Amino acid sequence: MKTDFGVISGQGEEASKEKVMRSIQSLNRQGSLDSSKEDGGATLILTLTLCNVRKTELSRAAKVFEMFETQIHHFETRRAKKPKNSDDDLDIFVECEVHSADVNILITSLKRAAEDVKTGREDKVPWFPRKIQDLDECHHLITTYDPSLDHCHPGYTDLEYRKRRAFFADLAYNYRAGDPLPRIEYTAQETATWREVYRKLRSLYPTHACTQYLDAFQQLEKYCGYQEDNIPQLQDVSRFLKERTGFQLRPAAGLLSARDFLASLAFRVFQCTQYIRHFSSPMHSPEPDCCHELLGHVPMLANKEFAQFSQDIGLASLGSSETEIEKLATLYWFTVEFGLCKQNGSIRAYGAGLLSSYGELMYALSNKPEYKPFDPEVTSVHPYQDQAFQPVYFIAENFEDAKDKLHIVAQPKLLKISEGTRICQNGKHKATSVQGVPTSMYLMETLSKMASNFFFFFSSFQKMAKQSRMPSIDRFLGFYAERATPGCFLEVKAADMLCFCIPLACGCNNYELC
Ligand SMILES: [Fe+2]
Repeated sequence: MKTDFGVISGQGEEASKEKVMRSIQSLNRQGSLDSSKEDGGATLILTLTLCNVRKTELSRAAKVFEMFETQIHHFETRRAKKPKNSDDDLDIFVECEVHSADVNILITSLKRAAEDVKTGREDKVPWFPRKIQDLDECHHLITTYDPSLDHCHPGYTDLEYRKRRAFFADLAYNYRAGDPLPRIEYTAQETATWREVYRKLRSLYPTHACTQYLDAFQQLEKYCGYQEDNIPQLQDVSRFLKERTGFQLRPAAGLLSARDFLASLAFRVFQCTQYIRHFSSPMHSPEPDCCHELLGHVPMLANKEFAQFSQDIGLASLGSSETEIEKLATLYWFTVEFGLCKQNGSIRAYGAGLLSSYGELMYALSNKPEYKPFDPEVTSVHPYQDQAFQPVYFIAENFEDAKDKLHIVAQPKLLKISEGTRICQNGKHKATSVQGVPTSMYLMETLSKMASNFFFFFSSFQKMAKQSRMPSIDRFLGFYAERATPGCFLEVKAADMLCFCIPLACGCNNYELC
């Protein structure tokens, strides 16, 4: 691999304007370059492979971007699909902005630092998991609140705590889809921290949590070891959720990137931390921990409507652009993390960030903050606060209403549907007919069982189809209907090139019977 950056710089000075323009036109034809910006900036979508990353290649590639004052919008690494030198080779996806005049020379420079630099149309849709096993690759962490990096983390100066965290991180990184979830022997100190959090929060739930939460919490105390003196094991909790809503847990090493976290939800998988917060700060954790997951998220994931809402956000995220991911993550923040809902004439909490934080749960229902009705278009772009209490909370009428509104927002990129609904032959399922597609009763019934998430599935399918030949809708639906089994994974092979697996959820109210 050549890494002579002095030569690259010299080439930049010599490049003729005409040559650069030819390069831009060529890239435009390939669909990987948006040079329409008025300020002369061009957006590039690139993939490249780095070999020998443990040596200096990664920093050399980074230096290329720095040299051209490239604005990086998204930078993502994954283990190389086709390693050239060793298993350490990395595939890198970059969405960046550079001055139009520098496009040609930037790419030439990258080709000297990396293998397989591509700017083709297939790279316009970011990688996303096609099957549940692909979630083994979705563990990219946001290290902002990591105890070994963040000076303000309560465990930063506690070496024992950091060692314990490294142990949990190893468990998560070594986990593979289908493995049993690791059972943890928690220390007396960890259990004492749990006890303090559990006692305090439990006293607030009857007056502050929504009824769906309270019902599930009661079940968890009965069947999953939810007690003051016991931190529940993820394996037991995961089995409980799987039976009720099809959701399952997998261990996470810390705060994940929004893209990876949301993608897991599409498969009804919840990435769950297993460590506990530092004992010196039982009432506050700057990052997710088992108190937040087990007390905040798990009870709500046992509710069918809420589980469907969570999966819908996840499905909408697959293959989305960075801007769309940011909007969905914000939507998730104000609903799944900090959502309030109306219930029997009062306001109750269903957000995990509230139900796992004594102080904020009290504050959110104190009439001090501002309240707004849940409206995905407004909520998804509203500024949020991750260092203090939220200045505003969004109130949903109920989960069904929130789910319907979410569909309306996602509609423009989905398959067009007709306005009316039909009842399937046995009268048990409502179905929405698909415009322009001949629908037999058999197909209608199958579609009805897939219910709302069919439309999100189709959205993801369309994004994926941009990468290849689009098969006919009839062929796709026929194939889909043939293989659809609610509660199972569906595998679609389109144009003999693509494979896409997605968990199906039944839209009727007796999911466990399907
Ligand atoms: Fe959370």
